Amino acid sequence: MHKNFTLPRQAIGQELIEFGCLQLKKQKERVPAATKKNLQTLAAVLRKIKNEGLPSCFIIKKLPRKLGHGLFLKCRAKPIYRGETIAPYSGKVFIAPQSEGDGSDYAFALIADLHLSKEEQKTWDPKRRFSPKRRYSIDLDAEKVGNFTRFINHSEHPNVEARLVRIPSNSLGLEPSPFELLYIAKKTIHPGEQLLVCYEGDDKSYWGALGIKPFEMDARTFLLSDEPMNLVSKEVQLQNNS
Ligand SMILES: C[S@@+](CC[C@H](N)C(=O)[O-])C[C@H]1O[C@@H](n2cnc3c(N)ncnc32)[C@H](O)[C@@H]1O
Repeated sequence: MHKNFTLPRQAIGQELIEFGCLQLKKQKERVPAATKKNLQTLAAVLRKIKNEGLPSCFIIKKLPRKLGHGLFLKCRAKPIYRGETIAPYSGKVFIAPQSEGDGSDYAFALIADLHLSKEEQKTWDPKRRFSPKRRYSIDLDAEKVGNFTRFINHSEHPNVEARLVRIPSNSLGLEPSPFELLYIAKKTIHPGEQLLVCYEGDDKSYWGALGIKPFEMDARTFLLSDEPMNLVSKEVQLQNNS
């Protein structure tokens, strides 16, 4: 795993955390606390990212159809059950204008629809002329730094969901955080399957901005196999060479 993609958790400064909390309060948004079980699996996966980069139950494979790479659960791994934490979607957190098509393919808005005061814009976006109408978002971008979750592709039938949660004080050694994006299993992920998440929020801005129609796939469209002749796959069989 490239060292840029072994960042366990989001990279965010204290000032931006405080600003984000203020915005959530203004929007009357309550971020739910991660469950005890989520915190336990989170602590375990963070240790694995720190020690191994890519946890040993996963493998990243090159896919056809210009899809780039994808993340798979290895054939001999245990299933991942609904509700289990896969990992935080990690990357760099910053404030950016919320205009379509500007962000990277690896960026998600953590908190959207912000209007900055003149003073706030001086702090967070000093180069642009002040505009009270301009909308901003607090974005999390894994293009240059992140972890293995950045290789999770898109599907309309995902087996993973993104949840914005609060990491409360705990006895597991996890730094508390008022907002953090966790990838959580939406249904059982079976060995050999690809992990997939739906990129689109309510605004449907991801694929429209890229100007492409996503390839329709589910967890079993591409299947890992260490016995290729015995397994059926709708599309191709990928050799598990690990
Ligand atoms: C967060 S990255 C996922 C990892 C990416 N495949 C890679 O190798 O780095 C998002 C990009 O992957 C590709 N991608 C993911 N899911 C796709 C899909 N269902 N159809 C077409 N392209 C997809 C698109 O290029 C998209 O902008």
